[in-house]
Formats: sequence, structure tokens, C-alpha cells
Amino acid sequence: MAIERTLSIIKPDAVAKNVIGQIYQRFEGAGLKVIAARMMHLSRAEAEGFYAVHKERPFFKDLVDFMISGPVMVQALQGENAMQVNRDLMGATDPKKADKGTIRADFADSIDANAVHGSDSVENAAIEIAYFFPALNVYAR
Ligand code: PPS
Repeated sequence: MAIERTLSIIKPDAVAKNVIGQIYQRFEGAGLKVIAARMMHLSRAEAEGFYAVHKERPFFKDLVDFMISGPVMVQALQGENAMQVNRDLMGATDPKKADKGTIRADFADSIDANAVHGSDSVENAAIEIAYFFPALNVYAR
């Protein structure tokens, strides 16, 4: 199995609920290492740039407004199959549809405020890691 890197964001709702530590425990329990982290309050330009791929979607403005509503915790995770392992930990985008025991089932309130972001492909992980951690090698060494 390949050692990969992926990008994770703990969103403003989960930061406000004070569950960063509980979410980090899930990463660690699944064998993912936090190899870089930044707590940030995103500007509108930073959030719009990050979600540029979704700019034609009807929820784009709501998503950006939410992501700039408070601080976020951004981290690069490394481990075997890291992208998919993190996606499995997160659960479905809509917490009502997320499997029991996933981060979104346990900590998210709605599809708008859904606790975490995780890269959805290895290719996007490389782009997203470079967006927030330009000095970090985007691939595992
Ligand atoms: S994904 O992961 O790209 O397949 O998910 P997708 O359903 O396409 O959603 C992309 C991101 O938009 C967020 N989203 C929403 N935000 C606000 N309102 C509504 N209705 C909504 N639907 C989807 C979703 O949480 C994804 O954000 P990230 O940060 O990538 O998880």
C-alpha cells in the first residue's frame, strides 16, 4: 500500500465546538500522521481560491461565507492510503447520510456545517497541500 499525503480542514463549526483534539485522535487512531498544521482565519479570497472548482455550484457563496465565519484548522496528513482513509473517517458530505461513528455523523450539524474537508483524490490532495503548505513536498517521501 502506498504512503500518501492528503489535505484536511477542520471547519469553523467543529473548531467552535472545541473538538479539534477528538478529531486528531481519529486521524492518529487510523494511522495518519499530522505532518504540517496551521490554524487560520481564511480571507474571502483564500476561501474562494480554495473552492474555485465549485464556483459555478449554487451553494458556492454559502460555502465560502461559512468557511470564513471563524477559524479553521488546516493539516496535511500522511499514511498508508491517506486520502481514502481520511475520506472514510469523515463520512458522507451530508451528516444525515454519514455512517455511524464517522466524524461528520458525530460532530456535524448539516450539509452546510459539516465539520471537516478532505481531499477527494490524490491529484487534488497535491494541489490542496501546495495551496496551504507551499514549502511542503506534496508527495510522501
Ligand atoms: S465532494 O466532496 O466535492 O464530492 O462534495 P460535494 O457534494 O460536491 O460538495 C463540495 C463541497 O461543497 C460543500 N457543500 C455545500 N456547502 C453548502 N451548502 C450545500 N448545500 C453544500 N453541498 C455541498 C461540501 O461540504 C463540500 O465541501 P468540502 O469542504 O469539500 O467538504
